[in-house]
Amino acid sequence: MKILRLAALAAASLLLPASCCRQAPKAVIPPYLNPEVDIEARIDDALSRMTLEEKVAILHAQSKFSSAGVPRLGIPELWCTDGPHGIRAELIWDKWKEAGWTNDSCIAYPALTCLAASWNPEMSALYGKSIGEEARYREKDVLLGPGVNIYRTPLNGRNFEYMGEDPYLSATMVVPYIKGVQQNGVAACVKHYALNNEETWRNSIDVDLSDRALHEIYLPAFKAAVQQGGAWSIMASYNLLRGRHVGQDLLLTKQILKDEWGFDGAVISDWGAVHDTDQAIEGGMDLEFGSWTNGLTQGKSNAYASYYLADPYLERLRDGRADVAGLDEKCRRVLRLIFRTAMNPDKPFGSMCSDEHYAAARKIAGEGIVLLKNDAAALPLDAGVKKIAVIGENATRMLTVGGGSSGLKVRREISPLQGIAERAAAGGVEVEWARGYASDGSSSPALIAEAVALASGSDAVIFVGGLNKDEHQDCEGTDRLSMDLPYGQNELIAALSEANPRVVVTLLSGNAVSMPWLAGVPSVLQAWYPGSETGHAIADVLWGDVNPSGKLPFTFPAALEDSPAHYAGKTFPNNGKTFYDEGIFVGYRWFEHKGIKPLFAFGHGLSYTSFEYGQPRISRTGLRAGGSLKLSVPVTNTGERDGAEVVQLYITDCECSLERPGKELKGFKKVPLKAGESATVEFVIDSAALEYFDDASHSWVAEPGEFIAHIAAASDDIRGSVSFSLL
Ligand code: GLC
Repeated sequence: MKILRLAALAAASLLLPASCCRQAPKAVIPPYLNPEVDIEARIDDALSRMTLEEKVAILHAQSKFSSAGVPRLGIPELWCTDGPHGIRAELIWDKWKEAGWTNDSCIAYPALTCLAASWNPEMSALYGKSIGEEARYREKDVLLGPGVNIYRTPLNGRNFEYMGEDPYLSATMVVPYIKGVQQNGVAACVKHYALNNEETWRNSIDVDLSDRALHEIYLPAFKAAVQQGGAWSIMASYNLLRGRHVGQDLLLTKQILKDEWGFDGAVISDWGAVHDTDQAIEGGMDLEFGSWTNGLTQGKSNAYASYYLADPYLERLRDGRADVAGLDEKCRRVLRLIFRTAMNPDKPFGSMCSDEHYAAARKIAGEGIVLLKNDAAALPLDAGVKKIAVIGENATRMLTVGGGSSGLKVRREISPLQGIAERAAAGGVEVEWARGYASDGSSSPALIAEAVALASGSDAVIFVGGLNKDEHQDCEGTDRLSMDLPYGQNELIAALSEANPRVVVTLLSGNAVSMPWLAGVPSVLQAWYPGSETGHAIADVLWGDVNPSGKLPFTFPAALEDSPAHYAGKTFPNNGKTFYDEGIFVGYRWFEHKGIKPLFAFGHGLSYTSFEYGQPRISRTGLRAGGSLKLSVPVTNTGERDGAEVVQLYITDCECSLERPGKELKGFKKVPLKAGESATVEFVIDSAALEYFDDASHSWVAEPGEFIAHIAAASDDIRGSVSFSLL
């Protein structure tokens, strides 16, 4: 169909005089419209046909979520959509208000912290394919996600949209998501590049840090997204780095991203992240969205013309202050993005809210839920449980809405209560709910008393609480005000544990919380925000239909001031200049460096079965630069249930001229094992796994000397170690 339309356009664009029509030559499709032609040649041809005005027009928004194409040439406009967890409802052309369509309800996939907690790249691939199919079906060309900003503090309001504290885990998990999305002819737009680690002052905070921390901690996930994921676009963040807004700087979006990493896609600004025309022209910005105007009322008659890369750019081109070569460089990237997506002749039709997609959402959630504690085998629920008290507002509250740009209009969201009640009914188990606490400030002793009464008369209590998507919870644009559970939940959980010895605390959140009641409850599930299939995924784990296999993608501090961003009286959030003085010591790197015991460690997660590790063995004890060695370790499921274990590989550099973390994650494998089954898990260690970033030489260096490879079930649970040397 597309080809026919192109052919018709080609004929029209040839504008043959009528007298020739009788002998009209075979219609020749111009190269830029011909999908048979190499994409770079198509770009060259399109560029050669575009006027100065048309070139500038494709570098900035024409509405809230679209940028212009070139109508005269039949080059379509580009449509973007949020967000990382599902395809956002249609908005009005120029407002943040929903358009009220009746055919744009979507599936909410689990929040990206949940995906990261699965430690399973196959889940990431499934996620990207599924959400990409929904974006394609909705005829969107750019999906504004995934987010991979590093978890530096438990108070960042958007941590739930990201993949945790470790650069290797984030880098490994982001790649399949991108490939899955882009196989649908939809561009991933990896965000927020970079150092967007707080929300309160995100537009004005001016971050500074060592080059080591920048390259070892905050950039690896973006680098993997570009070099392994082949991301077709990247979103430049709001904040400044060393005095210049990232979206228009030279270091991040030009020198590192384009020159060093070879990024051939388009840098898209966060909405309103461009502030200066000259810097944006000189810097790495290619496609400007959302700058101050709403396109209709604010500013001039057509306010999009007043975008920094709109008329102000045109003026500079006309009076010689800007050159066409720089303009063409930006246009090439945007045209490449258009030809890869909107004009991609091979893109599939997509699908939306299919059974397969719901099954994918449920499976990803089931693999991401983390069993933090399970004493006295309180879980899984057994036949002895005949009456369940479900307590907590989050058992019934919709959590796919709100939270900022990642909020969704879902076709369905199975609440925890629904999922639990459905599964209980199948076993003749009675379920009753009490709110227990209220997020609207009406938490009261009466609510607690009602919940305690219900709990004391039940066989088990499933408390469902945590955070939500309100401001100062897990929400864009704001940060949390403390690490405590809000709305009096701590008092409620303590009261419930007095009333019933079998309390399972289920937390829906995207961040670490303090747990003063932990000693008094036998089980804690970290369930994240599982999305449309929340209730089904939680019930699957509660009853053991799914054996939990998730592992924490970030550390749960015992106290906020133990965290590197809050240590020794450091302030958060920060406006203006702030220096990340903890440097490379982020997350578990920090806790081990300071000898601080966390509440729950990075990589921690229990199972309903048990796993035994044998002794790790390596193929050689000496590794030459450029070479590799093989490490293998036998793992056995020694329990009664089938399960899956995430075998983690950490590496210690025993002798280095620069200070390095005690150990760093350099590999992981999720291995499914039936009850009694054994498997040998293998890792390949090469010199790249031993490198640190050397500020002085601006390069990655692996120093010869002794290293130790640790095989672990968590960063604080090493099951075997073996030494080797880099020669
Ligand atoms: C927001 C967010 C970004 C989102 C964009 C469009 O400000 O920072 O993640 O994709 O604007 O909604």
